[in-house]
Amino acid sequence: MKVLVTGGCGFLGFHVCSYFRDQGAEVIAYDNLAKHEFARNPYMRPAARDYNRLQLEAKGVQIVAEDIRNKEALVDYTSGCDYICHTAAQPAMTISWENPELDFSTNTRGTFNVLEAARLHQLPVAICSSIHTFGPDRINASLTEAETRYERNPITIDENEPLLQGSITPLHASKRSNEIYLQAYVDTYQLKAACFRLTGIYGPNQFGGEDHGWVANFAIRAMLGLPLTLFGTGKQLRDILYAGDAAAAFGAFYQTPTPGIYNLGGGPANMISLLECIDLIQEILEQKADVSFKEERFGDLRYFVTDYAKFAQATNWQPKVRPEQGVSQLIHWLQQTPDLFAPEILTTEIVKTKELA
Ligand SMILES: NC(=O)c1ccc[n+]([C@@H]2O[C@H](COP(=O)([O-])OP(=O)(O)OC[C@H]3O[C@@H](n4cnc5c(N)ncnc54)[C@H](O)[C@@H]3O)[C@@H](O)[C@H]2O)c1
Repeated sequence: MKVLVTGGCGFLGFHVCSYFRDQGAEVIAYDNLAKHEFARNPYMRPAARDYNRLQLEAKGVQIVAEDIRNKEALVDYTSGCDYICHTAAQPAMTISWENPELDFSTNTRGTFNVLEAARLHQLPVAICSSIHTFGPDRINASLTEAETRYERNPITIDENEPLLQGSITPLHASKRSNEIYLQAYVDTYQLKAACFRLTGIYGPNQFGGEDHGWVANFAIRAMLGLPLTLFGTGKQLRDILYAGDAAAAFGAFYQTPTPGIYNLGGGPANMISLLECIDLIQEILEQKADVSFKEERFGDLRYFVTDYAKFAQATNWQPKVRPEQGVSQLIHWLQQTPDLFAPEILTTEIVKTKELA
């Protein structure tokens, strides 16, 4: 079996590559190595930039430094493959509003190219959307506020929840466009394609920052003793999903390729608020974090707990790792890799994303 993973050197892509490599598959990590977060997370040493790539090379994964916006290259490299897993993206809401062109070209045009490659070679494909496609307003208006978290009744949210509710950002638009194109390619070309509407994912090999990857951002900052900012009350709640479980969903779809758009998250057993997550991190590290609060960010969804029954029924997939276990694994990895992070701010100037292409 041969699998091409776009964004293979990113966080989720790394885990998807590892998942298939561990099963003996030939794996290509197709990634332009843009790593936008490295220009904006001031505590990362240069070695962090190459970390996932070098680990994949050591496992025998072929690295292709190419761009998903280059359709010709993508069609060439997917020739002879059995499956495409598409994790390459501009994933941050903040970057999408600072640089909508980058967001559109990467997420909308890039995903279109991936679907085209799958259509031309008649390959199964799984792509990534986000729970943000539901939009913030309707879900935020349905919440009550408890001491450490927002709550909602019913607890879980399935695929029938209305989409794009309230004010949206370019990321909402590009991620929703991915879902619409996927549906069109399933209906028109009978492509065996899945779109995962992902909740917050976390785990080892995540170089999280304030833009994207909040669990790792909190854990890295707490470990280094750097200040940590909460935007809003900190009661925002997610059903966080461990990266290995998310990677297994790509495997489950390949085994049972029932096309569709699926909500994918950890469900009620994995609920945790930002404040509760910081408590958990402090407990594991046995040290206090320096936490401050700022205004809630535009477009922020205060709550999401996934009803993943549709995907579980289609494939038998289930999330296995609970937050206590997964956050410990993440922190264990951080403690094993001190060379990747600096205990001081290395750059004072955050690179403006409009300079990124
Ligand atoms: N991590 C999460 O919590 C989360 C939550 C919801 C949805 N998602 C979605 O999951 C997917 C993976 O997210 P992630 O956290 O692994 O992101 P990431 O930023 O860690 O990885 C993305 C990878 O894509 C690569 N890339 C970017 N532009 C590219 C291009 N034009 N051509 C080729 N490669 C390119 C980057 O170099 C990077 O290695 C994204 O679609 C994201 O929107 C992630």
